[in-house]
Amino acid sequence: MSVKDINPVSLIRKKRDGLELTDGEIQDLIKAYTEDRLPDYQMSAFLMASFLNGLNDEEAAALTRSMLHSGIVLDLSDIPGVKVDKHSTGGVGDKLSLILAPIVASCGVPVPMISGRGLGHTGGTLDKLESIPGFTVDITLERYREILEQEQMVLAGQTEEIAPADKRLYALRDVTATVESIPLIAGSIMSKKLAEGIDALVLDVKFGSGAFMKKKEDAIRLAETLVGIGEQFGKETIAYLTNMEQPLGYAVGNWLEVKESIDGLQGNGPDDAMEITHLLAGTMIYLGKKASTVEEGIEKSRASVKDGSAFKKWVSIVKAHDGDTGVIENPETYPKADHIEPVISSKSGYIKEMDAFAMGMVSLELGAGRRAKDDDVDPAAGFLLHKKVGDYIEENETLAELHTNKKSMIPECKDEMIRAITLSETSPEKITQIANRVDKDGVHDYITR
Ligand code: URA
Repeated sequence: MSVKDINPVSLIRKKRDGLELTDGEIQDLIKAYTEDRLPDYQMSAFLMASFLNGLNDEEAAALTRSMLHSGIVLDLSDIPGVKVDKHSTGGVGDKLSLILAPIVASCGVPVPMISGRGLGHTGGTLDKLESIPGFTVDITLERYREILEQEQMVLAGQTEEIAPADKRLYALRDVTATVESIPLIAGSIMSKKLAEGIDALVLDVKFGSGAFMKKKEDAIRLAETLVGIGEQFGKETIAYLTNMEQPLGYAVGNWLEVKESIDGLQGNGPDDAMEITHLLAGTMIYLGKKASTVEEGIEKSRASVKDGSAFKKWVSIVKAHDGDTGVIENPETYPKADHIEPVISSKSGYIKEMDAFAMGMVSLELGAGRRAKDDDVDPAAGFLLHKKVGDYIEENETLAELHTNKKSMIPECKDEMIRAITLSETSPEKITQIANRVDKDGVHDYITR
């Protein structure tokens, strides 16, 4: 069927009745929608039919392909090296990109990274980067290539030219209750990642209260779909299922997380964040052909922190993006929020659970996040945890420190932080940070070495 002949009603009916659409049919629909020849109401009906009846692997790949080719697809083949990126499905305190990208680049693997902004309870890499004075993520594609070539890494924001169909479809999904569909999510993520010019991809698929996918089974299905799409496009793709039941690390909020990333790059990072960082970085180094196994990649990742090369790379990339390297080298000089207030526990006990979603919402209320796409964020706002799951807290001991310029929010946020923790008299089981690996051969239990 040519684009001219498209009969949207018959395609919507086909999906409504649980039948499969061909590659060409999906491409025609997406193309017609992107070119304003298909109205929102018909695309909404198609999205709802896809939400309810699902898309198989071939349909998900066709959807990805049409969204990918709705914009430019970068060709970085003239830049030497196997280009590898990481994508996380997002969480609270997830600053891993800031630590692992310089690690991987310092090990000789080029990292072309296009990131997004935070929305709701989750933070976004771009907001964190922009908390560094001067740091520019809004760069031309020419500059993107230049920085990648010179630094072996680049950190940019999504441009209008990358997968524009996804942008329109995502906005429509947002208002038609069709966001939470695994094939639609997978197509959306992969169309943007494949447009970056990568050769291979590592995925951090999070599950738990602070994650997009609350249930591990759903996260596994998403990981399988993402890996399936990556492999269909000829890009080696490895996913890990990681825990987002509590915030990652101790810092939540834009600059506070940049500061914790600096600690990580200087060898003083929090154990939970660093365990996942080294695994993801090690896998990227392996996929980038600078290590013959993931384990060797992890060793290289750790060594780059120990010998200072990863931190040196970070300073150099901040400079390339016009950021102020002074605050990176002397983070204590960064302007603090006007109000820094402790959250005090009125009871003692072991911290059994932390509600990462509720804590992410506290960070938003303190000024670090946004409710709507165009809201401004406060770079200095957020909180620093003093305790994590498994720690014992005494009555009158500090659970966390709130940083904010919105004084009126402090009492409510303190209460919310206390409500977000569950105490117990006995020591809880240790949280497993990394649950599974998903690759082209299937789902495997992850055994921590
Ligand atoms: N992130 C995306 O990029 N797309 C989705 O559909 C969901 C999360």
